[in-house]
Amino acid sequence: MPPYQPSADWQYEIPTTGSKRLPPAARYVESLTHQGYGFEAAIADLIDNSIDAGARNVVVSFLRDDDRLAGLLVVDDGCGMNDEALDTAMTVGGREGYAASALGHFGAGLKAASLSHADSLTVISRTKKSPSTGRRWLTARAQADFTCDVVDPRYCQDLVDRYDGIVEWHGTIVRWDRVRAFDTVTAGQADRFLNDAIEKLETHLGLYLH
Ligand SMILES: Nc1ncnc2c1ncn2[C@@H]1O[C@H](COP(=O)(O)OP(=O)(O)OP(=O)(O)O)[C@@H](O)[C@H]1O
Ligand SMILES: [Mg+2]
Repeated sequence: MPPYQPSADWQYEIPTTGSKRLPPAARYVESLTHQGYGFEAAIADLIDNSIDAGARNVVVSFLRDDDRLAGLLVVDDGCGMNDEALDTAMTVGGREGYAASALGHFGAGLKAASLSHADSLTVISRTKKSPSTGRRWLTARAQADFTCDVVDPRYCQDLVDRYDGIVEWHGTIVRWDRVRAFDTVTAGQADRFLNDAIEKLETHLGLYLH
């Protein structure tokens, strides 16, 4: 028998009777959160995005509620996003087209990194031409029906104002709430956890961004 030769129209070898669209079910989001992202690697993914957005300054800020760690923010002065771009950013695989030098490729990092570590992902952004706008994904609702919340523009503006040393005319704030790694930090241990995390992050980013 001659060796198998795939012909130009190899896909017609199997007869089909039609096609249907089968987009992933919302539960697919859950698989994104099981990619084994380490805490520092996840933060590094957010910083990659800031760098891709042309940021010159990126600040990682831990929110404290007395002795407890409450949340985490990554604030940058990159180009920012308008409403449309923000919807694309929050969509898994939403982005199309990348510069050859871009660090991002798959349109998934922000969602996968965030939902692996937090119960809530909020992104607030503004560009030179568009006012502050925001979206929030609660992990549980994203997994149920892909629903994303629109954040009150007044809150968006307030948060941007709070970081006006960085964001000023354009930039992005990514906020994580209910960070699971913080659950294990008992009262009084926050300082130690933070020092540890910052040290690891420095090592990770130092090695990684080279
Ligand atoms: N800090 C940011 N500033 C401006 N745009 C951002 C920022 N973070 C994300 N985006 C936009 O959202 C898109 C999606 O980000 P995400 O990290 O999910 O995927 P990606 O960076 O495109 O690819 P990868 O999955 O490889 O990280 C980015 O391509 C970018 O357009
Ligand atoms: Mg990315």
